Amino acid sequence: MKVLITGGAGFVGSHLADRFIADGHEVTVIDDLSTGRYANVEHLEGHKSFRLIIDTVLNERLMEELIRESDRVFHMASAVGVRLIMERPVKTIETIFHGTDVVLRFCSRYRKRVLVPSTSEVYGKGVKVPFSEDDDLLTGATDKHRWAYACAKTLDEFLALAHWKETQLPVVVVRLFNTVGPRQTGQYGMVVPRFVRAALRNEPIEVHGDGTQSRCFGHVSDVVEGLVRLLETPACFGEVINLGNSEEVSINELAQRAISLTASTSTINYVPYGEVYGPGFEDMQRRVPNLEKAERMIGYKPTRMLNDIINDVAAEFRRSRPESTNDATV
Ligand SMILES: NC(=O)c1ccc[n+]([C@@H]2O[C@H](COP(=O)([O-])OP(=O)(O)OC[C@H]3O[C@@H](n4cnc5c(N)ncnc54)[C@H](O)[C@@H]3O)[C@@H](O)[C@H]2O)c1
Repeated sequence: MKVLITGGAGFVGSHLADRFIADGHEVTVIDDLSTGRYANVEHLEGHKSFRLIIDTVLNERLMEELIRESDRVFHMASAVGVRLIMERPVKTIETIFHGTDVVLRFCSRYRKRVLVPSTSEVYGKGVKVPFSEDDDLLTGATDKHRWAYACAKTLDEFLALAHWKETQLPVVVVRLFNTVGPRQTGQYGMVVPRFVRAALRNEPIEVHGDGTQSRCFGHVSDVVEGLVRLLETPACFGEVINLGNSEEVSINELAQRAISLTASTSTINYVPYGEVYGPGFEDMQRRVPNLEKAERMIGYKPTRMLNDIINDVAAEFRRSRPESTNDATV
């Protein structure tokens, strides 16, 4: 099978590429390396079934060619990360919406199965616990840039479902909750690699806000298994499905676990959101996925919990980037 992974030099995309290569498929990655890293796929270069193309998904002529020759398309390319979204709001909207439009248009033309990742951010300021796929979405005012990501991803969802409705495009929309694991960089504000890296260096861990906000973290290997199954299950076409892990942890607890699991002497520093992202930044207190639909439709059950995640991320830092300054944080 020929698999096209846009954004395949990124965190989740590169794990997907590993998975398909290991399963004996042909993989093409297109990535502009804006947030992705060549190092994520370097080990695959030279493999007879792997091809890396450094270009943008906005290159329509190239995308048409790549999609026409593929059997499956995983559209992982996107502007990602709260920091990037706050700093580059125009690029965020353009990359997400135009990129997905291009991919869906050609997948529709050539009748290709396509997976479109959305995000738990679309649930916005909703306070329901847990979030289910048919819940209302509640984002903030348009002058609060963080919501641009959620709204652009929501529009992606509408467009994907519109293609399904009008032409039965075999598309699956998956709302990823915080996905973490080896290769994720802390550069764009991702909390787990930031904390683990600081803990390993015995540097202060910087908690944004008061740390009582909670999140659920899914291991990338569980998520990749879910993504693969979703696109192989025709009953999922035209559906929106949550994916992640429902083990909930406060950011304070996350910092403490990062310290204890790495035997660190780090302290915890609290920094108000306004100082990190500018005045008026809004964050959610809790964000828990309802995973019943994923379990019912593809038998999805996370197998790796937060301690496994922290240990895996720490092991990767120790092994491959002990002195990395690439993901410096504020
Ligand atoms: N990791 C998470 O916790 C999480 C949560 C919710 C949703 N998602 C979604 O999952 C997908 C993958 O996210 P990730 O965490 O792997 O992020 P990532 O930043 O590591 O991967 C995104 C990749 O897309 C590439 N890219 C960006 N713009 C591009 C363009 N115009 N053309 C080609 N490539 C481009 C980047 O270089 C990067 O390699 C994204 O759609 C993201 O919105 C991720």
